[in-house]
Amino acid sequence: MKLILLGPPGAGKGTQAKMLMDRFRIPQVSTGDILRAAVANRTAMGLKAKEYMDAGALVPDEVVIGIVRDRLQESDCVLGFILDGFPRTVPQADALREVLAGLGKDLDAVVSLEVDADVLVERLTGRRTCGGCGRGFHVRFDPPGVAGVCDACGGVLIQRDDDREETIRQRLQVYGAQTSPLVDYYRRQELLRTVDGMAPMDEVQRQILHCLSVQ
Ligand code: AP5
Ligand code: MG
Ligand code: ZN
Repeated sequence: MKLILLGPPGAGKGTQAKMLMDRFRIPQVSTGDILRAAVANRTAMGLKAKEYMDAGALVPDEVVIGIVRDRLQESDCVLGFILDGFPRTVPQADALREVLAGLGKDLDAVVSLEVDADVLVERLTGRRTCGGCGRGFHVRFDPPGVAGVCDACGGVLIQRDDDREETIRQRLQVYGAQTSPLVDYYRRQELLRTVDGMAPMDEVQRQILHCLSVQ
C-alpha cells in the first residue's frame, strides 16, 4: 500500500497513519517527525528548519524533497509507506511523482481528511505527545490515564512548540494557500479519496479502510 494522507494541521494525519502502520505493517513517513528529530539532534538542517517551523511556515521544498527521496529508498519502504505531511506544495508533488517513477512505483491513493477550522484549533491546542515513545494524546478527546504521563511507556507528555494558537492560525493559512491546491491536483489524477475527519478516530479509520476497499 502506497498512500498519502492529506489534510490541514490537526486533521488527524499522524493519528490515522499510526493506526494504518500497525494494520499494514508499513512505515509512516512523516516529514514533520523527521524534521523535529533533526531539531532535537541539533543538526545544521534541523536548526535551520526550526526557524520555519516555529514561524508556522513551510521548510523549503528542496530540503523536504531530499529527505523524502532518501527515506523512500530505505528497505522498510519496499512493500509500501504512508506519507504524512508530504507533499505540501505542487513542486513537492511533482518531485514525488519523479521519485516514485524512478523506483518503478505508483501511488494507490491519496486520502484527504476534511475537518472544520474551529475544530482544528481545539485539536492542536489540546494535543500532547509522549517525549519517550511518540504516542499522541489529546487532553479532551484522547486523555491519558494520569495527566501529563504516557499510558504506554510512562514518559512525560509534551506540547509541540508550534501548537500555540497564533502559530496554529499561521499554519492553517499556509495550508489554505500552499497545500490545498493538491486536493484538485490528485482529484485530476483520480487518486483522491475524501474522508470525514470530524468523526471519532476509530470511525475515521474505518472510513479510510473502506475507501481503500479493505474491511
Ligand atoms: P507536521 O508535523 O506535518 O504538522 P501538520 O501538518 O501541521 O499536522 P499536525 O501534525 O499538526 O496534525 P495531524 O494531522 O498529524 O494531527 P494529529 O493526528 O496529531 O509539520 C510541522 C511543520 O514541519 C510544518 O509547519 C512545516 O514547518 C514543517 N514541514 C513538515 N512537512 C513539511 C513539508 N512537506 N514541506 C515543508 N515543510 C514541512 O491530531 C491532532 C490532535 O487531534 C491530537 O491530539 C489527536 O489526539 C486529536 N485527534 C486526531 N483525530 C481525532 C478525531 N478523529 N477526533 C478527535 N480528536 C482527534
Ligand atoms: Mg502530524
Ligand atoms: Zn510513551
